[in-house]
Amino acid sequence: MPAFVVAIDGPAASGKGTLARRLAEHFGLAHLDTGKLYRATAFLVLAAGGDPADPTTAAAAAQRVDLARLSEPGLLSEEVAQASSVVAAIPEVRAALLERQRDFAAHPPAPPKGHRPRGAVLDGRDIGTAVCPGATVKLFVTASPEARAERRLRELRQRGATVIYGDVLQDMKERDARDSERRVAPLAAAPDAVTLDTTGLDADRVFELASEIIARALAAHGP
Ligand code: C5P
Repeated sequence: MPAFVVAIDGPAASGKGTLARRLAEHFGLAHLDTGKLYRATAFLVLAAGGDPADPTTAAAAAQRVDLARLSEPGLLSEEVAQASSVVAAIPEVRAALLERQRDFAAHPPAPPKGHRPRGAVLDGRDIGTAVCPGATVKLFVTASPEARAERRLRELRQRGATVIYGDVLQDMKERDARDSERRVAPLAAAPDAVTLDTTGLDADRVFELASEIIARALAAHGP
């Protein structure tokens, strides 16, 4: 029986990260926020004073990414976010990270004190199209750029950053453009993905809608 995999893709601040985390917890699935792999790659390049656009430097950093250290707060900055979408456009970086994502999906790690996970949730930009095209459930979570910029603004301010809406919206549009227009594995909804537009929906409603889809898929998938 193939592993039970939920692929969640969408643009920045669409709500996919929060959704993926909640779904994983609720259904006993392992979770991988694949954006963190690109952020960690960018972080390593920047920390060494390197150029995120240089393929050799970025690919070497991607090889060194440690899956156990993806919760470092340094990965959340706007500088790292922008640089992550630069490294993410480099085919050698994507190739270096691909097998690790597939391996996570096929053999989800057990949570620290929990039971064996029943499967995995991976969220990112290309999970349903490139990393796990055979995923059991594919969701594409999106929202208007303005709604997403407002969410990101709130998040950044909560973390103590001094930011203005116009800059956040501008950064978000630049990152969306880079992610959607790159040659390899651009941000896109898989043809068989269910699209959830979260503009005007709160996180609980989005969770409810997605949960119904996953509960049905789990029942059909068997034990
Ligand atoms: O989701 P998050 O904002 O953390 O992602 C950071 C960047 O990593 C994205 O802007 C994108 O360029 C890249 N990414 C990607 N493919 C994924 C996940 C993230 O290219 N599966």
